[in-house]
Amino acid sequence: MARSAHIAALFSLDKSAAEPLYRQLIRAVREGIAEGALRAGDKLPPSRELAAQLGISRMSVVNAYAELLNEGVLAASPGRGTFIAGSLSTPRDPSALPSVAANPSAGSLPPEALIAFSGGAPAEEFLPVAAIRRSIEAVLERDGAAAVAYEETEGYPPLRAAVAEHLASLGIRTTPENVLITGGCQQALDLAAQALLNEGDTLLTTNPTYLGILDIARIRRVRAVGVPMDEQGLRTELLESAIEAHRPRLIYIAPTHHNPTGSVMPIHRRRVLLRIAAAADIPVLEDGVYHELSYGGEPPPPLKALDEYGIVVHANGFSKIVLPGTRIGYLIAEGALWERALRVKQAADICTPGLNQRAMHHFLISGALSGHLDRVRRACQQRRDAALKAARRYLPSGARWSEPPGGVYLWVALPHAGITAAQLYPIALRHGVSFAIGAEFYTMEGDPNAAYFIRLNFAQQPSERIEEGMRRLGAAWAEAQGRYGGSVG
Ligand SMILES: Cc1ncc(COP(=O)(O)O)c(C=O)c1O
Repeated sequence: MARSAHIAALFSLDKSAAEPLYRQLIRAVREGIAEGALRAGDKLPPSRELAAQLGISRMSVVNAYAELLNEGVLAASPGRGTFIAGSLSTPRDPSALPSVAANPSAGSLPPEALIAFSGGAPAEEFLPVAAIRRSIEAVLERDGAAAVAYEETEGYPPLRAAVAEHLASLGIRTTPENVLITGGCQQALDLAAQALLNEGDTLLTTNPTYLGILDIARIRRVRAVGVPMDEQGLRTELLESAIEAHRPRLIYIAPTHHNPTGSVMPIHRRRVLLRIAAAADIPVLEDGVYHELSYGGEPPPPLKALDEYGIVVHANGFSKIVLPGTRIGYLIAEGALWERALRVKQAADICTPGLNQRAMHHFLISGALSGHLDRVRRACQQRRDAALKAARRYLPSGARWSEPPGGVYLWVALPHAGITAAQLYPIALRHGVSFAIGAEFYTMEGDPNAAYFIRLNFAQQPSERIEEGMRRLGAAWAEAQGRYGGSVG
């Protein structure tokens, strides 16, 4: 215990820094080893104890330990705790597996055998490579040097018009003048955050929420506060009191096929959210990136389509429905806000690459989108079904999930009396399967149950790999449960 307290004193973290606390802690452990203050065999305090000593959330410690375990910098011993494993190893590529020798039950897996359920990307085999190549060639042929010159900061005018027209099919009535083309949806969110928030302001969101908005909040020095959610998204009955308590300047919401939970907000909640936000005079930043990946029926209209008050700013893009690498997104906003976002965009990167904008425009007007989307939706649905079937077969009894009617994520709650997602993670890697640790998606206040969630992206694997990945996950869980026996350090 004395030694544990001494170890905690080695870590001085800066809570006001933009760098996340768990990352600072990872760095501090590595530096401690490099400087000789921490030696192989030194025991680290249990996560709860270290969190209390450092005055940070336990999740930050859990996440740091999980990453260091994964890298082989730390080692966990059943019932005894977490130790410095030895000399500092270089960070491991997540696709490279820790030695399987330590775990004979995992068999011998070559690194390429890793089944990654961890990412957020759509499946590569559905990216319309041939169609986009034709579009790039066509615009170079048609526009010559103009296709590779600077574009207007607000975007290539015909693409802005095509976006406005496309949005009409989702019920959003807007004009090309209100469309600002951005570097992916991520930049649309960041521009809106910069245009609407000052340092020290509060952003209200769901708990859990999209990691990218938490990154924006950290980097822009904005406080992100989470409101609990359930299978129907944000619990709107808690919204008024959260607004009263935290005085947010912006509400960020992904109402359809939410990342990470896959939830869809029903229309009545959408209306309640808008009414409460309007009454409090707080703008709502809507993230619509998964809206068109519905395969379980038509989702309710986007918030922007329901907005009678003029408070919704809509961020969206083509990453999830066409391809992520061209980085074409957009922000729909009006008036002074649109102007502010435009100025921020100009300062950030002058313009989104014109060739990509023109190629995306060519793709959209070629009529290829709807057939492509049908294929992607069908494939996602098949993979979702394979994931549900395999989850029922292989995940431990007591694990819970709901059936997402769209999107790419299965949000699984592990049995709460068992091991945590962070404990499972390094063992799952040894079994050749990865997932996203649920606790990563929570704001600083966290949630007592956050440690037990995992997010699985089922869209990236064909059905047989999904089945095999779930089998490995089930085996990893059984091994981890046997090892830790449910006693969480
Ligand atoms: C909810 C959500 N919003 C935005 C993005 C970023 O999208 P883009 O690639 O268009 O920047 C993602 C990507 O994972 C996402 O999941």
